[in-house]
Amino acid sequence: MNHIENYRKYFTKDYLMGPNSFRLLDELIQRIPADARFRRTLDLGCGYALTSLFIANETDARSVYAYDLWIPATDNYLRIREYQLEDKVIPLHGDAMDMPFARNYFDAIVSVDAYHYFGCKEGVFRDRILPFVKKGGYVMIAVPGLKEQPQGEMKRLFETWAEGDDAQLFRTAAWWEELLKGECGDCCDIAVKEAECFDTAWQEWFDSGHEYGARDREFLSKGLDGILNFVLIYVRKN
Ligand SMILES: C[S@@+](CC[C@H](N)C(=O)[O-])C[C@H]1O[C@@H](n2cnc3c(N)ncnc32)[C@H](O)[C@@H]1O
Repeated sequence: MNHIENYRKYFTKDYLMGPNSFRLLDELIQRIPADARFRRTLDLGCGYALTSLFIANETDARSVYAYDLWIPATDNYLRIREYQLEDKVIPLHGDAMDMPFARNYFDAIVSVDAYHYFGCKEGVFRDRILPFVKKGGYVMIAVPGLKEQPQGEMKRLFETWAEGDDAQLFRTAAWWEELLKGECGDCCDIAVKEAECFDTAWQEWFDSGHEYGARDREFLSKGLDGILNFVLIYVRKN
């Protein structure tokens, strides 16, 4: 059995917050560079800590810091106990813009479907995120993005779906590469790719029973599925 099937009971509206993050994280991990390690990992924008659960079970992580802004740490602690991972996953509440960790602390920082909410501005990666990963460590990010900038009727449909300002959070792989290379290309190796799990991750979100999933299904079926993608970002701190 594919290991992702072990998590199928979480593919519901009570756990998922968007396109199936198990699929995204699984692909992000499958495509890691050979020297990446997860021993001490920060799950940045962990949501309901589903991604922390997967990292804890499916990598060499010894500790996973489940860090999130919208979800209280106590709520996540209850979930982490349900997952029977309270000795490995540490729930924390806080803002990515003001993290309380020691510098050079993490082997890996992983962020799934969250980084675009705070990371689209110049300087954020260099000043707020990169300092916390060790030399030789990785920051690995999966975000929803665009294959290309929509034009005309498709642009209007996209902006209606994303509701105004949120449209600014969706960027192409080339845009992310330029932003990150401009900030840290001199001290990091940076690779940006498009994910392949798009159809499955969205379909499982549509099928989750979540009301936002039903709305997303309607918009994607009108043609948005042709311009959206998921962007995978790997940054090694040298
Ligand atoms: C769509 S959810 C994804 C959660 C989880 N990674 C997953 O894939 O299931 C996005 C998460 O990003 C978090 N987030 C947004 N802005 C943040 C910030 N400034 N600092 C920390 N977390 C943030 C939110 O709290 C939210 O739980």
